[in-house]
Amino acid sequence: MDVEGDGRKMSEIINRLKSIQKLPACPKIIPQAIKLSQNPETPISAYEKLIAQDPALVAEVLRSVNSPFYGLRNKVSSLRLALSIIGLQEIFRIILNASFHKTFKKTFQKLSYNFDTFWAHSQYTANAAYILAKSFQPEAASEAYIAGLLHDIGLPILEEFFCEEWSDILFLCEEGMEFHQAEVNVMGLSHSDLASLLLEHWKIPEAITIPVRYHHHPQKCKKYKEIVTMVYFADRLAINLMNSSQENVTQEQFEKDDLWFEMLERYPRYRVLENEDFINQIQPYITRKIAVGV
Ligand SMILES: [Fe+2]
Ligand SMILES: [Fe+2]
Repeated sequence: MDVEGDGRKMSEIINRLKSIQKLPACPKIIPQAIKLSQNPETPISAYEKLIAQDPALVAEVLRSVNSPFYGLRNKVSSLRLALSIIGLQEIFRIILNASFHKTFKKTFQKLSYNFDTFWAHSQYTANAAYILAKSFQPEAASEAYIAGLLHDIGLPILEEFFCEEWSDILFLCEEGMEFHQAEVNVMGLSHSDLASLLLEHWKIPEAITIPVRYHHHPQKCKKYKEIVTMVYFADRLAINLMNSSQENVTQEQFEKDDLWFEMLERYPRYRVLENEDFINQIQPYITRKIAVGV
């Protein structure tokens, strides 16, 4: 694995990670959902068959379709009807959100922060990555969404399963060290590496694991450059949008970033930030209550 830290510390952490009994397992439905999402011809009936296997997911779909967002006059109780109202893209997002949220919430019991706030950041990033991908590389929208949703999952893994290292990292940060540097100093790798290791262990495709690994350092990545860049910017958009005091800094911040200029040259349509409506368009979309968490 290509990380910048101390090789000995890194392999020790990897071995410990592999031996963690309580490490979350990939929800069974996910590989099948990813497969369905990769085929644009997948009929709704295939999703119906998949979702029907999980009563909790059926309940989640019905809860979503009957939420005020859809403004339906009559209550929907048929899964097929609910799925046709919600549409394929939203169905995919509900499956991912509900399944991962349930798995992670059960796993992470010792966190010093509210898991749902963490999950809200993940959802914001996923939605922003999805919207960027829809504009620039539509065929990668599903991968961008999943990478956005899981990009920071190394953080709760770190705190839950590597308590001593977590305290050492926080101590170094209090002393003034930058977080990423502190992670690498203590562990030989970062939360991005931990997250991608978990996803590799789950056999998630590398079009997702690589953007997760490089979400803080996209310049270092050669493969899947576009998805990596979209997740990187989506993460920053999510941080700014969740922090109302930073809502207006996005354009200024992005325009100081060489990578943004690189993208502008390669993809003139990336000039989205020059369009005042961009953030307005993204805001209501990503603040929608998708299934759970926010
Ligand atoms: Fe991160
Ligand atoms: Fe993040």
